[in-house]
Amino acid sequence: MIQVKTFYAYNDLRNFSYLIYDDKTGESWVVDPFEARPMIDYIKKNSLVLNGILNTHQHFDHIRGNRPLKDAFGSPIRSLGNSEYIQLNPDFALESLATPGHTLDHQVFLLKEKNLVKALFSGDTLFNAGVGNCKNGGDVNLLYETTMMLMVALPADLLLYPGHDYIQKNLEFAQTLEPENKCIQEALIKVKDQPIENRRAEKLGDDFKVNPYFRLNSQEIRQKLGVGVNSVEDAGELERDLFIKIRSLRDKW
Ligand SMILES: [Fe+2]
Repeated sequence: MIQVKTFYAYNDLRNFSYLIYDDKTGESWVVDPFEARPMIDYIKKNSLVLNGILNTHQHFDHIRGNRPLKDAFGSPIRSLGNSEYIQLNPDFALESLATPGHTLDHQVFLLKEKNLVKALFSGDTLFNAGVGNCKNGGDVNLLYETTMMLMVALPADLLLYPGHDYIQKNLEFAQTLEPENKCIQEALIKVKDQPIENRRAEKLGDDFKVNPYFRLNSQEIRQKLGVGVNSVEDAGELERDLFIKIRSLRDKW
């Protein structure tokens, strides 16, 4: 069976790094290592074999642990093309998917069992209740297209493993746009003051209920932003405008 071990960096950026491993064979893969030491210790303690290191993008906080992990185990830093995959065992594979926006060459990794997508390692493309910013080499129009593509392409029951723990801030921001949204209120109660160690991967379907970038049809959001209420504007362009407006508000928030 494939397991996912989450490592939290306890830094200002609140990075998450992941170790994906097969509990039968002991073969493992790292995604976006920030702090190498705890990962090295865990791999050794559990007698795992590190097959490779993967990065969703090249921002320093997602590659910081590459070198020490490579030095410790001699494992390659793998870079995958779009739709390229690594077979983890006969049943599971990790497949890359190009998701430009946060950076132009950002990619995410889909954990697939046969043809079913079970989990998403989303780096800085998608967070709980938010999306990445485009301030460091990104493009918000591409991020809009990527987000819409993910919303259509991915199943609601997959588990979301983002690159940072931004859930509380994102929910607080989402609440400014949709104060009446009960799902946001409930999610905030759940995560407020919750120790980071108690965080669990959320289902994408639950994110659809709270993440404003997935909720461009919300009348409350449209009213709040004064965009698209009773509009005859082209629906696609309207949603793009809303997305860009929300991203820009969040940048200043
Ligand atoms: Fe980043």
